[in-house]
Amino acid sequence: MQTQSLWEHTLTFFPRFLATLRERVAPDATVAVVGASDGKFVLPLAAAGYRVVAIERDAVALHGGEVHLPGDNHAHATGLIDRLKLEELHDRVRVVEEDFLQGEPLKVPCDAVWTSCSWHYSANHHRPLAEFVDRMQRLVGPGGLFGAEFMIPVDKRHHLVEHYTSPERLRHHFIGNWDVLLTLRTNEFTERAHIGQLKDHTHRMGLFLATRTSMLPHRYGKKDS
Ligand SMILES: C[S@@+](CC[C@H](N)C(=O)[O-])C[C@H]1O[C@@H](n2cnc3c(N)ncnc32)[C@H](O)[C@@H]1O
Repeated sequence: MQTQSLWEHTLTFFPRFLATLRERVAPDATVAVVGASDGKFVLPLAAAGYRVVAIERDAVALHGGEVHLPGDNHAHATGLIDRLKLEELHDRVRVVEEDFLQGEPLKVPCDAVWTSCSWHYSANHHRPLAEFVDRMQRLVGPGGLFGAEFMIPVDKRHHLVEHYTSPERLRHHFIGNWDVLLTLRTNEFTERAHIGQLKDHTHRMGLFLATRTSMLPHRYGKKDS
């Protein structure tokens, strides 16, 4: 590719999601990326032949603009929309510029949904994590794939916020009409400074992959038995 995401070098389980996608959905299936940012995953999915629905609330990530980078550097970032045009992938991608938690849940039928380290953002803490998960689940029908990588708590302050979670806790949202396919987690690791985190920092990440078996309603706030 001629262009690069500002998130290109952060650790990801995305290759596991992509491998599962290839096994389970059609080559021209529609994949939603929640928290698409400047396209670290949107562009490879589109280049692989999928149709992509890219959902993002951050205007700079979508349209480009000045960003603050490690080393007190400022730079002009190319946003997702221009990256798609430069790579001639815009025909395959529908960009939805909105907060995923605002208004009615998106009604865009997809074959798979993916998010990477988005739900722990403080802008989402006013709603329960279950609502974020539920809105993602609603995007896929029977046979559809749900994939999320997410932050596991490391610091004391993370333990106070349910949006830093674990594969075990996420399982409670996938009882009944879901099969959990794979869960993984890293140990604690040091990630080099990057946009949004201007100093080297410690993370622990998890992966959760599940497939929907039926369309029985699953409501957040209601405990499955
Ligand atoms: C860690 S960044 C993404 C980095 C990731 N490695 C990638 O490029 O996909 C998470 C993104 O999720 C977006 N995000 C978080 N909450 C969101 C929400 N409620 N609606 C839409 N986008 C959201 C943020 O604006 C941010 O761009």
